[in-house]
Amino acid sequence: MEIKRIPRHVSIIMDGNGRWAKQRGKERIYGHFEGAESVRACAEAAVEEGVRYLSLFAFSEENWGRPEEEVMKLMDLMMDSIKNEVGTFMDNDIRFLVLGNRARLSPSLNKAIDGLEQMTAGNDRMTMIIFLSYSGKWDILQAAKKLALRYKDDPEGLDSLEIKDFDNYLVTAGIPDPDLLIRTSGEERISNYLLWQCAYTEFYFTDILWPDFRKNEFRAALEEYAQRDRRYGKVK
Ligand code: FPP
Repeated sequence: MEIKRIPRHVSIIMDGNGRWAKQRGKERIYGHFEGAESVRACAEAAVEEGVRYLSLFAFSEENWGRPEEEVMKLMDLMMDSIKNEVGTFMDNDIRFLVLGNRARLSPSLNKAIDGLEQMTAGNDRMTMIIFLSYSGKWDILQAAKKLALRYKDDPEGLDSLEIKDFDNYLVTAGIPDPDLLIRTSGEERISNYLLWQCAYTEFYFTDILWPDFRKNEFRAALEEYAQRDRRYGKVK
């Protein structure tokens, strides 16, 4: 069945990898490996349905507080995914971007990310954004710091600043706000993700754990979105 109204930007809080692994008596990283397969499946479905931006919350600023071994293995998984999927990005005309506090990532991971970002810069069927070492409050603070420097000798300029101007100081500058935010695993909260950018985003919560969230589940979220009535605070 054809879905009528396709969101331009779908964002996902991928949650439940650890629980998925635990249910199977395996280590948490096993859930992250299976979760990477869900990333691939959702990216395929997004391209097929004509979604223009797919963003994924892969690692929060708070996630640095997890056991060192899990953090290391997650970073290795990111590195392997980047190295192994170059062909997939090029074949499917997908632009790749990583947004977040890049200074906290290792030099080798940053180098691999830069390489894939540059290689895919001209692709325009879909943009896939991985939020890595990201948090919403961090993003707003770094924007405020940049603004303070930019306008330190220009109080009039500062005074005339508008909301759309502030958008340009966030790491998501130039990227449309998410139309649909999906969170898996039954948790119903935003967990310091895209706080500013989700002002009018439609939320979709599901009990399905991220490693089980594949093409059919992604399409079900799009179908639900197509039924929503978006009014942006106005009256129809
Ligand atoms: C949340 O599950 C998941 C994460 C913190 C990591 C997400 C990372 C991936 C899916 C790896 C692949 C990503 C890319 C972009 C290749 P959790 O560990 O918080 O699960 P729990 O709540 O059940 O403990």
